[in-house]
Amino acid sequence: MATAEQVKALLKSYSEGDGDHFLTVAVQIAAHTARSGKGKLAQELRDLVDEIKRKQSAGKIGGSVPIARPAGELAGLLSVSYPKTTLAEMVLSNETRGQLKRVVREQRHLDSIRSHGYAPRRKLLLVGPPGCGKTMTATALAGEMKLPLLVVQLHGLITKFMGETAAKLHLIFDAMTQTRGVYFFDEFDAIGVDRGAKNDVGEIRRVLNSFLQFLEQDDSDSIVIAATNYVAMLDDALFRRFDDVIAYSKPDSQQVDALVKNRLGRFLGSRISWKKVDDAARGLSHAEIARACDEAAKECILGGIERADTKALVAAINGRRNMDIRGTAIPSK
Ligand SMILES: Nc1ncnc2c1ncn2[C@@H]1O[C@H](COP(=O)(O)OP(=O)(O)O)[C@@H](O)[C@H]1O
Ligand SMILES: [Mg+2]
Repeated sequence: MATAEQVKALLKSYSEGDGDHFLTVAVQIAAHTARSGKGKLAQELRDLVDEIKRKQSAGKIGGSVPIARPAGELAGLLSVSYPKTTLAEMVLSNETRGQLKRVVREQRHLDSIRSHGYAPRRKLLLVGPPGCGKTMTATALAGEMKLPLLVVQLHGLITKFMGETAAKLHLIFDAMTQTRGVYFFDEFDAIGVDRGAKNDVGEIRRVLNSFLQFLEQDDSDSIVIAATNYVAMLDDALFRRFDDVIAYSKPDSQQVDALVKNRLGRFLGSRISWKKVDDAARGLSHAEIARACDEAAKECILGGIERADTKALVAAINGRRNMDIRGTAIPSK
């Protein structure tokens, strides 16, 4: 049987959301059980651990122990995942990377920062054009800190009735105190615009103001991230409520190269003319370039070609460029 110390370690890793350690302790318990002559039970424990690992690699459960399954009304407002993404997978400007690393560092030293009476950075506003890594940042921050990512479902949040929306926001901000995680309000402004109601602007303003009030009062250990494509929405009141405003932009040629190398991996040809690739990719977002790389890789697989050369890569990039945002090809002249 498991010792009291092992049970303690199991519970501790569970409460910290440290799935890897949870499994390590489980394996130790299995070994201990085997040593005390309970071979059948030990085997059953090992089988259970293997099953968890299988589910993990199939993406059915996260690397962390799922402690944060939203229930009840929250279930319709928050969707939870346990990302494995890291900041190293992202191609960013030095400044943006520096800002994000700073957040991670402060979070890792949360207790000592707080014990000296300071507040760690944890309310972030991400601004920039689509496809340049705002959502990926929320994912990577959760991955870096082994915290659950809780994406706020805006369509569930915004209702015709302001009172209701505020009550729902309240639920979410309560959850932040109860379950430490990365809470992500994506395209906060854009959702409102889609609603087509006559009083859109007033409505967005009210939701936004309500959000900002909750944000101001919140002093949980969770990370709150809001993302927007619209710089126009950024007035002073907004800036002040966040600990940091992080800007995203389309990749420069150096970043294009890094992205292509990252993404193509073993399908990258050995003698790429980077000038041609950069010219083709100018003005495209990270997301569009990543997609082009995936297309090029698939062409390699289908054509039985080992690596993509400059021509194939440029063709894939041009293919993306000729798509409009809905993904339909624009006929070439
Ligand atoms: N800075 C980046 N570095 C690496 N890949 C990126 C980056 N930005 C976007 N991508 C790729 O494009 C996809 C979509 O990006 P996303 O983060 O959703 O953009 P946004 O939220 O800014 O619209 C990502 O899942 C990733 O594959
Ligand atoms: Mg996004």
